[in-house]
Amino acid sequence: MGLYNDTVMDHFMNPRNVGELENPDGTGVYGSPVCGDMMQVQVKIEDDIIKDAKFKTFGCGSAIASSSMATEMIIGKPVEEALEITNKTIIDELGGLPPVKVHCSVLADHAIKSAIYDYAQKNGKHYKGLEGFD
Ligand code: FES
Ligand code: FES
Repeated sequence: MGLYNDTVMDHFMNPRNVGELENPDGTGVYGSPVCGDMMQVQVKIEDDIIKDAKFKTFGCGSAIASSSMATEMIIGKPVEEALEITNKTIIDELGGLPPVKVHCSVLADHAIKSAIYDYAQKNGKHYKGLEGFD
């Protein structure tokens, strides 16, 4: 112990929103250039609001905790507000991650943006916060 705080441990031991959605409106996959670990995020979007989100990852405990927290943070939010979430805000919500694990939270951040991008592409939507995203 000591390395991870209680919030991180809780989200690691009891991750929220794990799995896949039946009919996702958008799917994003992101692989970390640092370690090669993968993250998939799926979203359900209605009237530009994120109704549901699920994730699956081959990443480590910090990636699991980050995605668990990140999916909780975006569910119920307007898409453009969800797009304002960065790996830094995820880490802040978690109460901090050890420095060597910071890049694991980037997986959640990028996979969420890529899932929203997928939805936007398929539905001809333009959201603030997706400019320059591929
Ligand atoms: Fe691979 Fe964190 S996701 S070490
Ligand atoms: Fe892979 Fe952390 S080592 S994302």
